[in-house]
Amino acid sequence: MVGINRERPAEGIEHLKADLADPSTWSTVGASFRRELAGFHGEHVAFIHAAGTDDPLGFAGEVDSEAYRRNVLLNSAAPQVLGQLFLAALRSLQARCHLIMLTSGAAQSVYPGWSSYGAGKAAIDQWVRTVGAEQGQRGRVQVLSVAPGTVDTAFQRRLRDTSEADFPRRQKFLDVYEQGSLSDPQDVAGQIWALTSLDLDNGSVVDLRKLDLPRSEKPV
Ligand SMILES: NC(=O)c1ccc[n+]([C@@H]2O[C@H](COP(=O)([O-])OP(=O)(O)OC[C@H]3O[C@@H](n4cnc5c(N)ncnc54)[C@H](OP(=O)(O)O)[C@@H]3O)[C@@H](O)[C@H]2O)c1
Repeated sequence: MVGINRERPAEGIEHLKADLADPSTWSTVGASFRRELAGFHGEHVAFIHAAGTDDPLGFAGEVDSEAYRRNVLLNSAAPQVLGQLFLAALRSLQARCHLIMLTSGAAQSVYPGWSSYGAGKAAIDQWVRTVGAEQGQRGRVQVLSVAPGTVDTAFQRRLRDTSEADFPRRQKFLDVYEQGSLSDPQDVAGQIWALTSLDLDNGSVVDLRKLDLPRSEKPV
């Protein structure tokens, strides 16, 4: 198992350090896919693309332009380019294959302060619908987009710490926190993994909260 991110190698798994908001790292990730999959004789391969950011929180035109550019590259471009590189690396493989992207309700609902975040998630959803249809015609990879609900991570902490001026719907997330209704990240990871055992249509965009999944699956 390989974890790709900048700073936080998960314990017990191989770490590929990459700043995915920097397009020059994408070919390194592609090379890693090819290396890992060359001569792979296992039964199941999965790429779960979870990297995403809500930084900068604030209105377009008011936030820092460099941070905004990085947001667009990470949330909109990286999932598509890395998804393409993963599919290309798998082409001659016989294993069962999953490509799972993390989306959000922000793909459909308007949240002022989240313009490039919501646009990135909408881009992911349409990419997944389209590539899932392609794989249904000619391919073996199950492609899914998954909205995890409100999960107790640093992402939610940043929302609570921001100002109402930058993120006017902040109170909604504060309420979920104060009611103790945030989901546990380990439970959510297990539920995402459980999706690989379900017979979902290829290209499905699903909301974990609307699926009847066990809460105690082995975490990814
Ligand atoms: N938490 C929620 O309530 C919620 C709700 C809906 C959707 N989601 C989605 O779920 C996914 C995971 O979110 P989370 O809650 O775990 O957020 P998080 O706590 O902010 O973690 C984000 C993850 O993305 C990685 N990442 C961020 N910027 C990166 C970069 N430039 N290059 C490489 N990796 C980068 C981070 O690792 P490093 O910082 O070490 O690089 C971290 O592993 C995201 O796509 C998010 O949009 C979350």
